Amino acid sequence: MLPNEPPAPGSVTVDAGDVAPAPPVKVITYGTFDLFHDGHRRLLERARALGGYLVVGVTTENYDDSRGKLNVSQSLMERIRNVSESGLADEIVIEEYEGQKVQDIQKHGIDIFAIGSDWLGKFDYLGDYCKVVYLDRTKGVSSTQLRNENSGVLRVGVVGAGRIAARFVAEARFVSGVSVEAVHSRTYDKAVDFATRLELQRADKDYEDMLEAVDAVYIASPHATHEGYVRQALAAGVHVLCEKPMTLSEAKTRELFQEATERGLVLLEAIKTAFAPGFQRMVAVARSGSIGRIRSVDATFTKLVKSGRELEAPDGGSISELATYPLLAAVKLIGTEYSSIRTTSLRPAGSQVEVFSRIDLTYPHATASARTGIGVKAEGDLVVAGSRGYIYVPAPWWLTEYFEARFEDSRATKKYYYKFDGDGLRYELAEFASMIRGGSLESFKLRASESIAIAGIIEKARSEALILT
Ligand code: CTP
Repeated sequence: MLPNEPPAPGSVTVDAGDVAPAPPVKVITYGTFDLFHDGHRRLLERARALGGYLVVGVTTENYDDSRGKLNVSQSLMERIRNVSESGLADEIVIEEYEGQKVQDIQKHGIDIFAIGSDWLGKFDYLGDYCKVVYLDRTKGVSSTQLRNENSGVLRVGVVGAGRIAARFVAEARFVSGVSVEAVHSRTYDKAVDFATRLELQRADKDYEDMLEAVDAVYIASPHATHEGYVRQALAAGVHVLCEKPMTLSEAKTRELFQEATERGLVLLEAIKTAFAPGFQRMVAVARSGSIGRIRSVDATFTKLVKSGRELEAPDGGSISELATYPLLAAVKLIGTEYSSIRTTSLRPAGSQVEVFSRIDLTYPHATASARTGIGVKAEGDLVVAGSRGYIYVPAPWWLTEYFEARFEDSRATKKYYYKFDGDGLRYELAEFASMIRGGSLESFKLRASESIAIAGIIEKARSEALILT
């Protein structure tokens, strides 16, 4: 229309100043953005160019943990700052849980969901809510690669060639910056077979040779051999992650930790539950006062065993095999300062070891009961009773994927869900690796004092139990 020409019938003239600007096309993308790199910058640039307004979701440590993304080296605040300083985000949101994307897209009125091509196909389901675009990933750079370059790869050797050792190797593949390279077993043929099967670089006949070739060892041999393997590794300047129970004696366990501390080496007991995100959250919820004062912990773990070392004296039995888990719950929730301990065990005629046990701990203001069975089956749940309410963790509580905080008024129940992938061994290994990298000899997730207390309880329970037949 020319200036001063009358408006066409039916049309409306608006002053240019009053034209409502078209709403921007909104794009959303998500990531961890650890050690912000060129791949991240290019992804954000292209995502923003798709619309003009970019919302960036940055993942929390908890969320990363729960999806098995471990060893992220920067904190959430640092990673948010990375994105903010790129100047490419119009808005930043925090991604805390699975399923949040669907909500964010609706809440923020998003038109396009964009993500790198490493996720191709994985987010097609969001197509019900907005357009989904996969952008080519920048080649040759990733946070994983930068983390490895910054800290070097941690070379790990495995002692023992059994089932748990094999599971550990499989899980280690999910922990960045860790490479399992060697195996040693008392029976050399088994080590060779293990190395071939799991594609490890070496099988060592002599433990000393392996110790020279690695930075750390994971010990998964029979209980009675742990102590010797730990001592030798520490003497060789090698960090140690040792399967539970590290030893069956409080004094020996204490000695090993002292030795590690004196040498400035990391020694950690591989109690996988202690490192599972759901278990830590359960302990935090219980200790936050939400159920009042904790007055009792009841934990049960049974696993029927038909044959094998677990049923043989002197080291087998339900206590040495399984009590570590329920006792972990007791010391994490009530502490290590118990005042007395009483144990009842069942050893049927003909059995070399006790096949069911109940360890009762009395604390000044609380009680704990740990039940374990290798010849008796029971519900494997955990109840933490407090003065205002209780926490219920259904079987298998030691994997802690789900728990509830329950109260007198059942409408007040809160449910917590923490799915994690795999066997859970990756969490203990990730913690072990991050302690070595960060130069910290103690983890709040499992302190030396807690491992020592558990060893002490196991030792007393085994020697003082009232035996039923
Ligand atoms: N991205 C990319 N090009 C790269 C690396 C990442 O386009 N070279 C994209 C990812 O596809 C994702 C976003 O950047 O859309 C955030 O990825 P993030 O997982 O934080 O980065 P990575 O470097 O892939 O991290 P990691 O190595 O820990 O998996």
